Parts: sequence; structure tokens; C-alpha cells
Amino acid sequence: MSANPDPTPGAERDRVSWAPMTPDDLDEVMAIEQTAHSHPWTRGNFQDSLNPLFVAQCLRLDGELLGFFLAMHGVQEMHLLNITVAPARQGQGWGRMMLEALSLLSRHAGAQWLWLEVRQSNWRALQVYKRCGFQQISIRKDYYPAGRLQREHAVVMSLKP
Ligand SMILES: CC(C)(COP(=O)(O)OP(=O)(O)OC[C@H]1O[C@@H](n2cnc3c(N)ncnc32)[C@H](O)[C@@H]1OP(=O)(O)O)[C@@H](O)C(=O)NCCC(=O)NCCS
Repeated sequence: MSANPDPTPGAERDRVSWAPMTPDDLDEVMAIEQTAHSHPWTRGNFQDSLNPLFVAQCLRLDGELLGFFLAMHGVQEMHLLNITVAPARQGQGWGRMMLEALSLLSRHAGAQWLWLEVRQSNWRALQVYKRCGFQQISIRKDYYPAGRLQREHAVVMSLKP
């Protein structure tokens, strides 16, 4: 992926950096992942995704990892699999910035659609995605494990990048 994913506003441009996720990032990535999600990915999930089938970017401010996203290339589409902002940094616009960066990367990759699934109970993420222009397409029943042998529906959302 050669496109530069940088929709950063002027004042912070010099302090913010984007870089593809590498194995060296995974200690910091896991620290955020485990505090930000009810059902975090494992280190192995990330390791398996660090290859050209995926787009994985880390967003840093003065070197501090703010968050990351990971998406999978499809045929003329991109599928967002994980987007996470460090809990202390949530609600400050970083999630929107990452979604805009992903949208830009998706356009450059020739994607017609950007897809995602989100837990039906993840009210906050649902609001964020709607604010950022995603529309609900359908519900996938019992898509996610939800503890004690229960399952949870996924809301499927999409955006034209
Ligand atoms: C979901 C997540 C990535 C969003 O990142 P964020 O940095 O907190 O979001 P932002 O501050 O950029 O907010 C983006 C937009 O959503 C809105 N928003 C943020 N939190 C909101 C809330 N609780 N209710 C309603 N709107 C909200 C913001 O106002 C903003 O809209 P605006 O730019 O038009 O004002 C982040 O909260 C997170 O990592 N959550 C835990 C992990 C997770 O659930 N990931 C998604 C799994 S599918």
C-alpha cells in the first residue's frame, strides 16, 4: 500500500505519525487491545494479519500509540476488522481520523465499499460509525461469542469510501 493515509489537521500534523503495524508494535497494540475490548483479539490474531492481504496502521502522537486499525482487502471492497483507540484517548477525534485514513486507503486500493461488523451492544461504536457516515445494512444473528456459551448479533454497516 503506497498511499499516505494522512487526513491529519494542520496543527497536529508534525506530532502525528502513521506507520504500518509490525511485530515490534504488538506489545503496545496488545496493551491497548486488552483494555479497550470486552472480547480482545489475541496476539496470534494480530500476527496472522500482518501480511499483504491486510492493511494495518498504527497512529502515534509524539511516539505514543493512540490507536490502530486493521482491515482486509476484498474484491473491490475493504473489510474493517479492528479499530481501537487507547481508552484514555477516546472521544478526542482520533477514531474519526483513523476511519478517514482507512477510507482514503480504501479509495486508493480501488474499493467501492468499506464494510464492518460491530456488536449490537457496542452502542458507542455504533454511534461513532453513524457519525462517520456508515449506514446499517443488516444484522448477522449470533455472530459473536458473548461468554457463557451465549452469542451476540452483529450489526453490518457499510460506507462508500
Ligand atoms: C469506537 C472507537 C474506535 C471510536 O474512536 P474515538 O476516538 O473514541 O471516536 P472519536 O472521538 O473520533 O468520535 C468520532 C465521532 O463519533 C462521535 N462520538 C464519539 N463517542 C460518542 C458517543 N459515546 N456517543 C455519540 N457519539 C459519539 C464523536 O462526536 C465524533 O463525531 P463528530 O466528529 O461528528 O463530533 C473507540 O471509542 C474505541 O476504541 N472503542 C473501544 C473499541 C471498540 O469498540 N472498537 C470498535 C469495535 S467494532
